[in-house]
Amino acid sequence: MKTAVFMGSPRSKGNTQLLLEEAMRGAGQKGAQITLFELNAMKIRGCQDCGGCVESGICAMEDDMEKIYLAIREYSRFILASPIFFVGVSAQAKAMIDRCQCFWYEKYILKKPLPQGPDGRAGLFLSVGGMGRVEGKDCSGATAKAFFRTISVPDHQALCYLGVDARGDILKQPQALKEAFEAGRKLMEIPKKTKP
Ligand SMILES: Cc1cc2nc3c(=O)[nH]c(=O)nc-3n(C[C@H](O)[C@H](O)[C@H](O)COP(=O)(O)O)c2cc1C
Repeated sequence: MKTAVFMGSPRSKGNTQLLLEEAMRGAGQKGAQITLFELNAMKIRGCQDCGGCVESGICAMEDDMEKIYLAIREYSRFILASPIFFVGVSAQAKAMIDRCQCFWYEKYILKKPLPQGPDGRAGLFLSVGGMGRVEGKDCSGATAKAFFRTISVPDHQALCYLGVDARGDILKQPQALKEAFEAGRKLMEIPKKTKP
């Protein structure tokens, strides 16, 4: 199944990446065809609220989001991975998410949700935070949920690990890596729920 992976951490070999690699390994084992979008390396401007998408559902801006828009329309599995920065998702992830406002108009105003397709659409959100406080989990989780619903993913799994700060700290929580691997495998199942 075609799977778009949105990597929201700028830190290479950091905790998000290590967790994500396990999820991708699990998904790959179940036949995922993965396209990785390294958001930090892409040219993605923040939404300008220009109104260009209001009547068409198509973003008027021209940058690397065009590749992501295509994947969101055509793929059926989505993984969003982000560290918790200032109690929310990273700026890289948030810029990409905000640019999905065109799908919001398309779904909720133009009443044209993206079709579920034969395999349904499903998602996985992975996040890590250095502190032990749950606000980061809750806030980033709420943003991820809004993202997935906006791109017509009716249901998603979410894994968040707190108290994971220095590069590689996640390796001290081997169950986290196992859970990410299993979540990747599970993502390839056909969901029962098909409502957008
Ligand atoms: C700019 C910045 C803001 C951060 N804000 C938070 C925060 O609000 N809550 C938290 O739990 N950790 C916070 N952290 C810590 C990171 O979430 C933590 O180091 C995480 O493991 C980084 O993931 P990475 O290794 O994938 O980059 C912050 C780190 C940075 C660089």
